[in-house]
Amino acid sequence: MEKKIVILPGDGIGQEVTTEGRRVLEKIADLFGHRFSFDAAQIGHEAIAATGQPLPDASLEKLKRCDAILFGAVGHPRYDNDPTLKVRPEQGLLKMRKELGLYANLRPIRLFDELLHASSIKPEILKGADILFFRELTGDVYFGEKGRKDQGNTAYDLMVYQRYEVTRIAHMAFQAARTRRKKVTSVDKANVLESSRLWREEVQAVSQHYPDVALEHQFVDAAAMKLIQQPRSFDVVLTGNLFGDILTDEASQIAGSMGMLASASVGDTVGLYEPIHGSAHDITGQGMANPLASILSAALLLQISFELKQEAEAVIAAVERTLQQGYRTRDIADGGTAPDKILTTARMGDRVVEQLEQVANALEKLPRA
Ligand code: IPM
Ligand code: MG
Repeated sequence: MEKKIVILPGDGIGQEVTTEGRRVLEKIADLFGHRFSFDAAQIGHEAIAATGQPLPDASLEKLKRCDAILFGAVGHPRYDNDPTLKVRPEQGLLKMRKELGLYANLRPIRLFDELLHASSIKPEILKGADILFFRELTGDVYFGEKGRKDQGNTAYDLMVYQRYEVTRIAHMAFQAARTRRKKVTSVDKANVLESSRLWREEVQAVSQHYPDVALEHQFVDAAAMKLIQQPRSFDVVLTGNLFGDILTDEASQIAGSMGMLASASVGDTVGLYEPIHGSAHDITGQGMANPLASILSAALLLQISFELKQEAEAVIAAVERTLQQGYRTRDIADGGTAPDKILTTARMGDRVVEQLEQVANALEKLPRA
């Protein structure tokens, strides 16, 4: 297979982690006989510093003409500490999502058994948890009208949803549920918000097409509690942009660390794959970042954009074997981790690439179907 991938490292640890994600994709191409070509583009603070724009046109053009995108992170403390700045790194990410029509953000919460003890939640509560979030990504307060009035003393962000925006992602969520445990939990705040009542109405309408899938509704406050109280009670979670942003950071604790969670943003055109974590400037350049979220994002890229199921499974198996051998980055190490098993970003990438080779060799020895 021949494919063109654009790497968008962005800011902070985005550079370090996408380097490892790319290495894994290169290794997959090598082992499975594909030809992946790579290009890079700028986004975020890095792009503002170079061009004044958080997503320069040159980047957007490249993104529109490739087969898949591996993205790192955007953000910089300079902007976080100065809310008056008008041009901000995150605008690049939001523009990219909107321009590429990436309306569905899939965030699988996959708990590797080896990391049961890396979480602050009790292992017996976590064991067996497996959740797939569908976070709507191009609507809600993120894109509703925003502004100031009363001489700047009043600020507003409009929470707005159109029916079609709910319909299309709801169908995706129900279809995914059919391949899993056949349950969708739709999360909203319909006891207060009109946009949530439209959301709920439309999710109920879509559910009529999927009589084999159970639908339940939860208010976002209750869902936030239930996620850590009974994580196993969730299968597919369908929710809006803002609630999804918040709940998936919370849910990352089920997987042990933000550094483990990958995501796929899909919709009208090309797919974009990225860790759910941010730019983490506090640890940038120190080799401390966990590259597994980027590597697992690469697995989602292989599976969803290229439909290379075996290759995607090989990446996940390589990550699993690396963890089984006791290797950890700092964020997922616990009291029982031997100091020589705590690896830097690049060394963790080395171990996964090494394991990939072994997984692929084992596959070759199997009789072909
Ligand atoms: C995420 C991030 C972004 C979001 C930020 C960086 C704009 O937190 O992808 O979850 O809020 O969507
Ligand atoms: Mg977020």
